Amino acid sequence: MRGPVLLGLLLTGCLVQGQAQADEHAAEYREEIMEAVGGHMQAIVKIAKGEVAYNDHLVVLARNMAGLATIAQNIFPEGSAVGDTHALPAIWLEPEAFAERLQAFLDAAGHFDAVVASGDMSGFGEALQGLGQACKSCHDKFKDDD
Ligand code: HEC
Repeated sequence: MRGPVLLGLLLTGCLVQGQAQADEHAAEYREEIMEAVGGHMQAIVKIAKGEVAYNDHLVVLARNMAGLATIAQNIFPEGSAVGDTHALPAIWLEPEAFAERLQAFLDAAGHFDAVVASGDMSGFGEALQGLGQACKSCHDKFKDDD
């Protein structure tokens, strides 16, 4: 009987280790995506402030941001608050409040994309502010500061 028991323990050990690794990879993946979100935001703000004249990039940046907001809906699996993460436990303790922030991000990025794609820039400032607000209202509650 010892053989099978030991084998069972070994297999369990592998499964636990496999899950820990999957959680770590999920946390790292989330950070890659959020860095892409952050990079897009900074690029958009540079154009908005007139620091660079890549106005023709805005359509692509806004489209990408909307795409990233779609991806962001699905990068917070349970158990992935591991490693060097800034994700707060509240994400999984208050899933409904968190889901609202995700939805707000999706809406704000979709609206920003629509405004930029329309070419009518009269709503640009407000749409950009709404997008920034969507980041902030989630970070304030669900991401630690440092
Ligand atoms: C629904 C919640 C939510 C929204 C919306 C959101 N973020 Fe985040 N963001 C997080 C969380 C949580 C982390 C920490 C992730 C981690 O460390 O595992 C994070 C991390 C980041 C990071 C740091 C990446 C890293 O290296 O850890 C940047 C930059 C960032 N977000 C930018 C943005 C910007 C810009 C927006 C809006 C355009 C935005 N985020 C929208 C929750 C959100």
